[in-house]
Amino acid sequence: MSDTDLIDVTVAEIVQETPTVKSFRLVRADGEPIGSYTPGAHIDVVGPTAVTRQYSLCGTPDADDAYIVAVKREDLSRGGSSALHELAVGDTLRISRPRNVLGIDRAAAHHVLVAAGIGITPMLSMARYMDVHGISFELHYFARSAEEAAFLPLMQERCPTKLHAHLGIPRAEHDEVLGGLLTDLPAGSHVYTCGPDGFMDTVVAVAGRSLPEEAIHLERFHATEQPDASENTAFEVELEGEVYQVPADRSIVDVLQENGCDVDTSCQEGICGTCIMSVLSGTPEHRDNVLTASEKAANETMAVCVSRTRDARLVLDYY
Ligand code: FES
Repeated sequence: MSDTDLIDVTVAEIVQETPTVKSFRLVRADGEPIGSYTPGAHIDVVGPTAVTRQYSLCGTPDADDAYIVAVKREDLSRGGSSALHELAVGDTLRISRPRNVLGIDRAAAHHVLVAAGIGITPMLSMARYMDVHGISFELHYFARSAEEAAFLPLMQERCPTKLHAHLGIPRAEHDEVLGGLLTDLPAGSHVYTCGPDGFMDTVVAVAGRSLPEEAIHLERFHATEQPDASENTAFEVELEGEVYQVPADRSIVDVLQENGCDVDTSCQEGICGTCIMSVLSGTPEHRDNVLTASEKAANETMAVCVSRTRDARLVLDYY
């Protein structure tokens, strides 16, 4: 993502949703409509300390006047969430256009949203959209307590019959509780999850007992650990007839950008999907958290900021 792709926005409203979560209503600094987005989308926010983080849009997808993001202040924040919590109404930020790695799968007959903690944020726009458009869904919201469950009153008001709040359930019991929720789902159900990694891993494992991989969708907002870089090997990448050498200690995207290729990036951690490219030949070694398991198995696309190959050459194209 280049600087010119970013939009200047002003903080129009701040709401303290829980003791640790604030929501921010962002409008374009030039007064123009900010635009609608697809449910489940997120944006990059460049905070006051120039740290870029991804946040789900949690307002109404069809509205085009403002974006709403919710930020949990992390105890170990390296300047991202804590700096955003210092913002005041009238401050300005830079944001990216919305992107979506957790969209509603139109092939599904029923949608089961399973969120934990701040993972509720992408589910808000999805639930809102499905509620308004009469799409079959249910929303399961796990949180430590009602006080810590951001947007719980809003969801109780908007979709009381679809919302199932699971408050104060010990982690050790998640497997059993999720087992009860995710078995005997209606035919054609898809499951979507967002929350802490351990929680999502449990949802994926439990849902995977009865659903195919392509019916389980998840969104991570931070990278999982990468393999030991000392074991990386060098290889070649071909793009539009040009061949570039990717040394063991460089990423594909670094080499392509250095050679003037127009490859956009944002997170550089394999979580946002900005750098996805098409694979024309060769077998990627996928290291990202953005492609689904079936997309990785198909080997037709790859996230070139983190993924590599053990082949001698990859042939890529712009996506
Ligand atoms: S730049 Fe975000 S996935 Fe590659």
